[in-house]
Amino acid sequence: METVILNDDQIAQAANFLAKGKLVAFPTETVYGLGADATRPDIVKDVYAAKGRPSDNPLIVHVDGPEMVWQYADLDYKPLAEKLMKRFWPGPLTIIMPIQPGTLSPEVTGGLKTAAFRMPNNQVTLSLIKQFGKPIVGPSANTSGKPSPTEAKHVYHDLNGKIAAILDDGPTKIGVESTVIDLSVDIPTILRPGMVTEDDLIEVLGDVRSDHHKVTQEEIPKAPGMKYKHYAPNAQVIIIDNQADFESAIAKYSQETSKIGILATDQVLNQISENYPKFSLGKDVITASQHLFAGLRELDNSQMDYILAQGFPDTEHSAAYTNRLNKSAGQQHYTK
Ligand code: TXA
Ligand code: MG
Repeated sequence: METVILNDDQIAQAANFLAKGKLVAFPTETVYGLGADATRPDIVKDVYAAKGRPSDNPLIVHVDGPEMVWQYADLDYKPLAEKLMKRFWPGPLTIIMPIQPGTLSPEVTGGLKTAAFRMPNNQVTLSLIKQFGKPIVGPSANTSGKPSPTEAKHVYHDLNGKIAAILDDGPTKIGVESTVIDLSVDIPTILRPGMVTEDDLIEVLGDVRSDHHKVTQEEIPKAPGMKYKHYAPNAQVIIIDNQADFESAIAKYSQETSKIGILATDQVLNQISENYPKFSLGKDVITASQHLFAGLRELDNSQMDYILAQGFPDTEHSAAYTNRLNKSAGQQHYTK
């Protein structure tokens, strides 16, 4: 099967594929998702197979609005969840709540009593869900363990021949996946940082905890997906925390290999004289978040041994970037 690329005039065709039980990758404001009928366990299984994803890792249920959520989620959570939906939907916030028993299959929930819901801020995909008339599951549309796809060509690279179609809406605007907040616990807890920040959530919810930085290999993480190897290109990624250290890091790794790629802001790239492949992260941590996964993929295509990637100081808006970069580097930071 050759995977077909569809554009925004062909949403009906994409909805038709979904209705026939086929897999269709869809655009969102964060990353591309791998879509399938969330109400059919047999089809949801195909999503895990196409990605090579462990089956205990639950999927996000994508909806076209709050109304669709309340067919599945526990209605006791409505007052609290609707405060979040009013403020952040459509947008990069995924909300975990207990479900009404029996409404979603274990293939979707990973066997948990909760499920994750999200209304993406992308008109093409909102129309797709509306036309299809049912929610669609959507993990990121990459091979499990690889950087998430921010362009249709990334999806094609990983999944060509394994899915029916890719609905192409150009490069995604945010570039890192949605913030995941768990409402099913006593104090709402952030399981994955994203562009909706901790401070944004505190404004609406009051007390909020962050669990994502505590997850180690041994612990059982609250978001099952956080325990697996993630965002990892074939090259070893090394994080350069201080801009001033790029030159000495290049000197160090040059002793070992000439296959070194640089992933940094224009300001840093302009100061590097060595003729190594470079990929621009733009001007700040927001543009860096947008371009991180594309950069990792691009430099990997050039078969680098090392990717030296710029770290950013801890701020409210750097949490998502730092979280993804740390995972892709397996926490390896440059030391002199
Ligand atoms: O931006 C996004 O969220 C993208 C786009 C496509 O919407 N989707 C995405 O899906 O990143 P995925 O499957 O790659 O990540 C979903 C994360 C995983 O870490 C998963 O373990 C967690 O959410 N998750 C899903 N359901 C959960 C649940 N019931 N309890 C705890 N964690 C859950
Ligand atoms: Mg993913």
